[in-house]
Amino acid sequence: MYHFFIRPVLFLFPPEFIHHVTFRLLKVAGKIGLLSMWRKQFQLVDKRLERTVLGITFPNPVGLAAGFDKDARLIDELAELGFGFIEIGTLTPKPQPGNDKPRLFRLPQDQALINRMGFNNEGVEAAVVRLKRRTSSVIVGGNIGKNKVTPNEQAVDDYRLCFQALYPYVDYFVVNVSSPNTPNLRALQEKEPLKQLLNAVQALNAEHPQRKPVLLKIAPDLTEGQLLDVVEILRETKTDGVIATNTTIARAGLHTAAERVTKIGSGGLSGRPLTQRATEVIAFLRKNLGSGFPIIGVGGIMTPQDAVEKLQAGADLVQIYTGFIYEGPGFVRRINEAVLEAANRH
Ligand code: FNR
Repeated sequence: MYHFFIRPVLFLFPPEFIHHVTFRLLKVAGKIGLLSMWRKQFQLVDKRLERTVLGITFPNPVGLAAGFDKDARLIDELAELGFGFIEIGTLTPKPQPGNDKPRLFRLPQDQALINRMGFNNEGVEAAVVRLKRRTSSVIVGGNIGKNKVTPNEQAVDDYRLCFQALYPYVDYFVVNVSSPNTPNLRALQEKEPLKQLLNAVQALNAEHPQRKPVLLKIAPDLTEGQLLDVVEILRETKTDGVIATNTTIARAGLHTAAERVTKIGSGGLSGRPLTQRATEVIAFLRKNLGSGFPIIGVGGIMTPQDAVEKLQAGADLVQIYTGFIYEGPGFVRRINEAVLEAANRH
């Protein structure tokens, strides 16, 4: 249904416009009770899907990746679609418009997207207002970043502000230093700044009576040497987990015409071209972090089998974004069915 009827219509319009239309439609569908009526179509409730990771019991291992519901507008509606958890953000202390449009592009021949949104969001306080109002009990992660105007030397303050504001309302945190669309952000992945940043967030965390899990989200473009540095820093700073990966700045092996890719310009590539690299990073991290260290696998999950492969490579949980756009709302359930099947085969 989604493949043959809905997607061809949606893909006739600019992607960011469709993103907003979809949001409206989901809101209305939620309000008039359509989503809860269709709940059985989307949700798969099965004890065997449960995963206890980061001290939290997830009803299933399939989450919505950051960037889709940056401002926490649709948590209740998205929960009806069967996600085991939803990551909001990236949020910044102050609202910011993001980059000029167009800034989101489809590459259908590659089952991919390129985006240079640039952390467009209404600011952490607006998200808090919505989080206070939510009715579903779905697990929510808070992905945090810095404002574009904040220099890297003061970046720690932005992350701390977001952490404090969100602390009562989210189940885990993600420190995002891997978006390619905020100038210089990825420099925070360097050893010293990264250590300082994670230590500062964890120090704040320790001031609360109950610590919340803090994860680091990394880029797929790091070398093995840089990944080993990340492993060391994760241990040293007692970071609770890692999310691998964000979008890539690479453009190799695309089927889309080179002129079009050039014309689109800078941004992070997601979807099919990222599948293999993200899985390699997950496997590398698992090997070097050992068993038991929480890894959330994301990047190019375009079929249920891709998700199973990420789990087999060492991810404890997975997240989807581009696959959700290309495959539609039934994708979450189909992944969960494949996860159950794979467990039965073992
Ligand atoms: C993203 N992603 C992202 N990640 C993040 O940590 N903060 C963000 O604000 C965003 N924003 C964002 C916007 C858009 C339009 C896209 C397509 C992606 C990255 C996302 O969470 C994920 O890590 C990558 O897209 C790789 O997964 P997929 O899309 O290949 O499943």
